[in-house]
Amino acid sequence: MSIPDAAKLQAEVLIQALPYIQKWRGAIFVVKYGGAAMGENGLAAQVMQDIVLMHCVGIRPVIVHGGGPEISDLMKRLGKQPQFVNGLRVTDAETMELVEMALTGKTNPRLVALIQQQGGRAVGLSGKDGGLIRARKIQSEVDLGFVGEVDAIEPSIILSTLEAGYIPVVSPVGMGADGATYNLNADFAAGALAGALGATKFILMTDVPGVLSDPDDPTSLISELTREQAQRMLENGRVSGGMIPKLQACLTALESGCPRAHIIDGRIPHALLIEVFTDAGIGTMIR
Ligand SMILES: Nc1ncnc2c1ncn2[C@@H]1O[C@H](COP(=O)(O)OP(=O)(O)OP(=O)(O)O)[C@@H](O)[C@H]1O
Ligand SMILES: [Mg+2]
Repeated sequence: MSIPDAAKLQAEVLIQALPYIQKWRGAIFVVKYGGAAMGENGLAAQVMQDIVLMHCVGIRPVIVHGGGPEISDLMKRLGKQPQFVNGLRVTDAETMELVEMALTGKTNPRLVALIQQQGGRAVGLSGKDGGLIRARKIQSEVDLGFVGEVDAIEPSIILSTLEAGYIPVVSPVGMGADGATYNLNADFAAGALAGALGATKFILMTDVPGVLSDPDDPTSLISELTREQAQRMLENGRVSGGMIPKLQACLTALESGCPRAHIIDGRIPHALLIEVFTDAGIGTMIR
């Protein structure tokens, strides 16, 4: 009986992943999936499929999602014009309700459903569940309303869901000591979570190839940065907009003992699998 070449190749590809599977078994990976790279459901489905595969081979992924475009879309549909100051969404009480509706009510269950549909087991959590993310109001010159920063992480709900065999999917809202709900930047929430969970990897999936030395030139990818270099890029203003919280979140995770942070292009098919199971590092690695 002759074995088809395609089957032989498939077997080879599987065995090539063995050292990585052995290395990562049991490890917690915090994956921040940016709203900007979510696009069509087809793309998000593929990313969630990668997560399901990772989970199946013993990695414990924790997803934190963004949702900038979905929040803006909901706001516009209800006649509210999104407004940003230094990259942060001005969030009055009514906007906070919409932020929660979009993130916890729409984006989060959408990702949970995509995981379930592909045979995985996911649980959606907001940063409020089990007191996961305690937040406090960001103080700035302009009053940003209910924009918060992470005050403390109480990771027990994540550990329980991982222990029970589920993939936790976390929406970046937090609760203040005052009981108010705060809108958090998902990069910061994910970085703090990666630190608190002692994650082995912190992966940020966005809509650019990684950190670029020239934001207008997609070929100017910086493939590796030390903590000091990342710090310097922030200080020199060489990153702007959405890349600022990403680098800061990576530094937070590294400072808390997470050995590696990666900023990768979520638009590349199977970017996660390439990053986790092959030698070909993609995007920017910070260590
Ligand atoms: N030096 C740089 N290198 C790469 N991207 C940069 C740089 N400076 C600024 N950026 C911007 O950062 C953006 C990514 O952050 P953004 O907040 O828009 O997306 P996201 O975090 O993936 O999604 P969300 O905020 O919805 O979670 C890029 O699209 C790019 O415009
Ligand atoms: Mg962002």
